Amino acid sequence: MSNVIINLENIDITFYQKKRVIEAVKNVSVQINKGDIYGIVGYSGAGKSTLVRVINLLQVPTAGKITVGGDVTYADGQVKLSSGQLRQKRQKIGMIFQHFNLMAQKTAYENVAFALRHSGLGKEDKDQKIRQLLELVGLANRADNYPSQLSGGQKQRVAIARALANDPEILISDESTSALDPKTTKQILALLQDLNKKLGLTVVMITHEMQIVKDICNRVAVMQNGLLIEEGSVLDIFSNPKEELTKEFIKTATGIDEALVKIEQQDLVQNLPKNAILAQLKYAGTSTDEPILNELYKNHQVTANILYGNIEILDNTPVGEMVVVLTGQVDDLVAAQTAISEAGIELTVLKRGV
Ligand SMILES: Nc1ncnc2c1ncn2[C@@H]1O[C@H](COP(=O)(O)OP(=O)(O)O)[C@@H](O)[C@H]1O
Ligand SMILES: [Mg+2]
Repeated sequence: MSNVIINLENIDITFYQKKRVIEAVKNVSVQINKGDIYGIVGYSGAGKSTLVRVINLLQVPTAGKITVGGDVTYADGQVKLSSGQLRQKRQKIGMIFQHFNLMAQKTAYENVAFALRHSGLGKEDKDQKIRQLLELVGLANRADNYPSQLSGGQKQRVAIARALANDPEILISDESTSALDPKTTKQILALLQDLNKKLGLTVVMITHEMQIVKDICNRVAVMQNGLLIEEGSVLDIFSNPKEELTKEFIKTATGIDEALVKIEQQDLVQNLPKNAILAQLKYAGTSTDEPILNELYKNHQVTANILYGNIEILDNTPVGEMVVVLTGQVDDLVAAQTAISEAGIELTVLKRGV
């Protein structure tokens, strides 16, 4: 049986306004597997939210085919479900947003209860369900608080409890942490990760922040001007990005850009000697930095001066990045670069001594 829970095939979404035609989404195909935490990353206006409204069954695409949970929901610009089926399908997809969208005049408890109004549950079952949901998101003691009495993170937790009320298989988060501070963001991401594991929930994370993708996603798609320009496992994309925009997004998540500015200013780099190169090394998986650098000296008499080092765990695999000055005889430097490449480490020369 296929593990694909959301399948988008060649989706176009075009808006026709009086004088303008806006192609918000162009020929996008994506497969999301059950249990994925799937990131869709792109700048504002890339078409992310529009694409989500299609997955969410709120927007009929102009062209293309969509299958959600094994059923074709849209094909060739038409809805393929009855309104009853459509309603049922929508209930299996939870949604959270940047601005929480809670009802201000209702308590946390009542906000969650509202999502259960058509559930058919009896009074006691409903009460039990609501309390379980609030417990699940860590708000058991906040049931009677109004949104105005809750912090941003707590409000988003209420929204998550509400989104989970009808036991969805899919949770879509559209910039759900964009209005939160970094610490609260981490906590909400940890909660989503926990729900993914505990409930087997498939999560679609729409974001403009690659850091979020790095923190919790296992796959990612990059969107630009309505097009999906790159897609893959987070590990592959971070260790081997192909598109310029993807590289730009990754830089924002690794901090190397900031580090590079500082590195550039160092005396050693400003006055790089003739027998030296400034190089960036990237590796993923088993290759580790230390032994190879020792070997460079042992085998080629090339010394490595580490100016920057960073190692992260992406999807259970160590991914490292270093900026080093390699110093040695011309031939030895060439041999050292070959040895590095052969060890499966990606080497980029940033600067050569003159
Ligand atoms: N209902 C609509 N009518 C016309 N244009 C729209 C509509 N919704 C979105 N757009 C346009 O589609 C493009 C993509 O928007 P959106 O999906 O919101 O991007 P993102 O979520 O990546 O910031 C933008 O140019 C936006 O103005
Ligand atoms: Mg958006």
